[in-house]
Amino acid sequence: MKGIIMAGGLGTRLYPLTKAISKHLIPIYDKPMIYYPLSILMKLDITDILIICTEKDIESYKELLGDGSHIGISISYMVQQKPKGIAHAFIIGEDFIGKDSVALILGDNIFYGNNLLNVLQSSDNDRIEGATIFAYEVKDPMKYGIVEFDDNNKVLSIEEKPNFPKSKYAVVGLYFYDNKVVDIAKKLKPSSRLELEITDINNIYRKDNKLEVKLLQPTIKWFDTGTYKNLLDASTFVEHTQNEHSRYIGCIEEIAYEKGYISHEQLIKIANSMRNTEYSKYLESIVREK
Ligand code: DAU
Repeated sequence: MKGIIMAGGLGTRLYPLTKAISKHLIPIYDKPMIYYPLSILMKLDITDILIICTEKDIESYKELLGDGSHIGISISYMVQQKPKGIAHAFIIGEDFIGKDSVALILGDNIFYGNNLLNVLQSSDNDRIEGATIFAYEVKDPMKYGIVEFDDNNKVLSIEEKPNFPKSKYAVVGLYFYDNKVVDIAKKLKPSSRLELEITDINNIYRKDNKLEVKLLQPTIKWFDTGTYKNLLDASTFVEHTQNEHSRYIGCIEEIAYEKGYISHEQLIKIANSMRNTEYSKYLESIVREK
């Protein structure tokens, strides 16, 4: 399975914060935001990853993450010239996806939870047919794609940012699709806000009875860091949780080491390159623990 991180867009909702810097590079406590979605793909054993970003930001992403070889994965980059919508990812990424299935994660989504991996993983990495998405109960459903269920948990509709939401279950920014998603995306028409909507893709799978929607329990924490408040909440959550458990969230170097993608010498080398930071000390402590 291939992985795509959608890290384009203009970030205008966070101006002036994101006027000169990509939203996905600003810090969530001690790491750039993009570390968190990248860490989720890595935890799911997805090691061939495409980052889609704006032309202006591509060099900054390359400087931060390179070709991924330092953490034992492959990262490639493509530019989205204009924010034509999240579903545009599958058109831009057509050659990268090839004949594979694909996981798409939004660059501004942060997930955390003890049983998170079990829930996500059972959505299987080698999906043959259909799509799997996840829903999470929110207080402000008008801001998201919203799933309506019947009494038997059958999905009746998914609406993008509805004025009159039919439930409080938001579709989170992690989606698994079979290879058909590329053709589906190519046939989409832009919405009234002139975007290729991920919600339209999900509704096509739904109508074909090929969509699975899994509920994420409140024990899992999900942030869409699209507002100043959510940014602060996410940072506070990461700081608090890391302190409490003495384990980092979204630490891509640690995951690479645990997965065996890099040796302990390579981890030490990365730690040394960030010498005397709390981050480097944490990486060194992982090697010592082993
Ligand atoms: O976070 C979950 C929500 O994400 C879902 O519930 C919605 O159904 C989905 O449409 C999306 O809504 P948002 O309003 O949060 O999407 P936003 O425009 O903020 O874009 C999400 C990320 O995707 C953001 O990090 C920027 C990136 N993006 C967005 C667009 C429209 C791109 O890279 N290119 C784009 O063209």
